Amino acid sequence: MHWSHSFYERQDALTGCSHAPIHPFHTALAARITAHRGRAGSLLELGAGGGQFATAAALLGHGVTALDLMTGAGEHTRFLAAQHGVTVQTLTGDFYTLDPGGPFDTICYWDGFGIGEDDEQRQLLSRVAGWLALDGVAYVEVYTPWYWARHAGFTRRTERYTQTYGFDADGCRMLDTYAPRGEEPFTQFLRCYSPADLRLLLCGTGLTLAEVWPGGAYAPDAGVYHPEAPLGEAMTFAAVLTPA
Ligand SMILES: C[S@@+](CC[C@H](N)C(=O)[O-])C[C@H]1O[C@@H](n2cnc3c(N)ncnc32)[C@H](O)[C@@H]1O
Repeated sequence: MHWSHSFYERQDALTGCSHAPIHPFHTALAARITAHRGRAGSLLELGAGGGQFATAAALLGHGVTALDLMTGAGEHTRFLAAQHGVTVQTLTGDFYTLDPGGPFDTICYWDGFGIGEDDEQRQLLSRVAGWLALDGVAYVEVYTPWYWARHAGFTRRTERYTQTYGFDADGCRMLDTYAPRGEEPFTQFLRCYSPADLRLLLCGTGLTLAEVWPGGAYAPDAGVYHPEAPLGEAMTFAAVLTPA
């Protein structure tokens, strides 16, 4: 089985990340997307986890479909949406094989792009192009190589587990390893891209890189997260993608 089919469930069992409430960050991101699109519309979220962004987007009037592989993610998303008085349609399955319908005005994928080889990213991006309306926009969060190369070796210790960042320089992948007390460690590997790399990756997918929005940066020494970092220091950037 591919590591991604067990990693997120194990991570969630350890950290409870998918059961978190909506953070102001999700609300601000949903507002930014809505302002950028100019209006609410149909929105597909890939790898939606526990539905925090999906619910924040539904609260702004989008008709949201939240897709995730993880058992229980859809149930939590529907629960969270109902708690906030909105509805989110959920789909449980693999975005490489499942057909979510469409066309969608907006497609988002936060925190998770880069699983597998370049060909798999191209395959997913081509699928996104096919699900997008003619005037649609996709927002994909991409990991940068520089942050992860610089902070490889950073370790966070909690009572239940140790988390360590690593970087595979040859494959240009970040490694994120959880070592639960008394259990085997498990790792996610995400391919990192600069905007220049991404432009090359996008060739032939039907999408083009229209804008780059730098993300935040966690400063491990100070233990502080800066939500807005210059691109050259950011952990990720949001690639704003339009039909080519
Ligand atoms: C790091 S989590 C991020 C969750 C959410 N987007 C957020 O920002 O909180 C990545 C999510 O992508 C989902 N995922 C990974 N591979 C997938 C696939 N092939 N199809 C659908 N979902 C997938 C995982 O189950 C997980 O919930």
